[in-house]
Amino acid sequence: MESHSDNFYRDVVEADRARVWHHLTQHKKFETADPLVIVKGEGMHVWNAAGRKHLDATSGGVWTVNVGYGRAEIADAVRDQLVALPYYAGGAGTIPGAKFAEKLVSKMPGMSRVYYSNSGSEANEKTYKIVRQISHNKYGGKKNKILYRERDYHGTTITALSSGGQNERKDQYGPFTPGFVEVPHCLEYRNQYGNEQDYGVAAANAIEEVILREGADTVGALILEPITAGGGVIVPPQGYWERVQEICKKYQILLIIDEVVCGVGRTGTWFGYQHYGIQPDMVTMAKGVASGYAAISCTVTTEEVFNLFKDDADDPMSFFRDISTFGGCTAGPAAALKTMEIIEQENLLDNVTTMGGYFLEGLERLAAKHKVIGDVRGKGLFCGAELVADRDSKQPLDEKLVQAVVADCVQNSAVLIGATNRSLTGFNNTLCFSPAFIAGTSELDEVLTAVDGALTRLTA
Ligand SMILES: Cc1ncc(COP(=O)(O)O)c(C=O)c1O
Repeated sequence: MESHSDNFYRDVVEADRARVWHHLTQHKKFETADPLVIVKGEGMHVWNAAGRKHLDATSGGVWTVNVGYGRAEIADAVRDQLVALPYYAGGAGTIPGAKFAEKLVSKMPGMSRVYYSNSGSEANEKTYKIVRQISHNKYGGKKNKILYRERDYHGTTITALSSGGQNERKDQYGPFTPGFVEVPHCLEYRNQYGNEQDYGVAAANAIEEVILREGADTVGALILEPITAGGGVIVPPQGYWERVQEICKKYQILLIIDEVVCGVGRTGTWFGYQHYGIQPDMVTMAKGVASGYAAISCTVTTEEVFNLFKDDADDPMSFFRDISTFGGCTAGPAAALKTMEIIEQENLLDNVTTMGGYFLEGLERLAAKHKVIGDVRGKGLFCGAELVADRDSKQPLDEKLVQAVVADCVQNSAVLIGATNRSLTGFNNTLCFSPAFIAGTSELDEVLTAVDGALTRLTA
């Protein structure tokens, strides 16, 4: 990468401070401190504008740069594609659009059709429109409600927020789109069902209770994250997913799985739901699909769902009347295709599984040493450590202290980790780790050492 003078970087930081409105950020602090500006990345490392190198255990802050920074082969594929054809609207096909769709569904037995757009929120909104249109065309307007789960997140637009189970993302943005109904979370550490032996089944049965309360003939779909991400890295308890699938089948409720975070390898399988032997009706994905080298999201459906939108060619209203302008950008599928090839060629799914196990063990060791770690959770390179002020009462650690742990890792160890952020009042207390799929033991040890140091300094 071209290097610049110190003055150039100073100007960039000043321009950022003066002109850029950062996401999820209270800006008052930038009156006295510099915003973080990242100027370069290589492998698992990024450099800030002051030239300081950091180990990134977040894959770009939000589970995105999954195959790591500086992948010239992805950049080349995108460049070649842009020169050949940068864009054509989704009413037509393109070479990378067709090729990537074919490759993607080859990893998703039972799934069949890929609809392109460019953010996770948008991909989820497509599923809601599909559910609503099915409701009109098949059920005379019934079965239009969509269930979502407490603690899950499905995006930032008003309707995606209407299906959001995190109050701090929603508060002050209502009124919301009608027809979305919350079901309880399934986090066993925060047990809601007493000493239930089969916690997974009990947590899934809570969904059935909501369906019966609302009336099964009013409910069209259930959307869930396979493993909840920003709501606290929640791996569902044993038996949960199998029972959820049974319930959906019993009441003819479409199962939508939001793989925006887990999709394309994060948990060690191509998709998070594939750990549980279930068959969704729709799957959405974004973030890591092209590893952040281009914007792309996908809404993938079964052929059965797709067929509902082509069975009456004489009816001008029967097909999916949706459009996404930038769903026609070819850089997305070109970068996504290369990302998948890299994951295959470098056996990264295996690495995610092995290194994920190694990292979880490391977190368990930290938990044995630091009482402040109440629970360790995760699958693959998708891990979390819930911090508590008191292990017996499980009272969450003050979120200022949680943020101080994150800041300490940066300041003292130049390691970037994450934490649940503006999600649930009182429960923004889980440290989040999502290193790139190329992580090895030395990088993971560095992350663990940084966290150990921070917890020792701040909470011992
Ligand atoms: C599970 C999940 N779904 C959807 C989204 C929304 O994706 P986007 O920010 O690309 O709209 C996110 C973003 O964090 C997410 O974590």
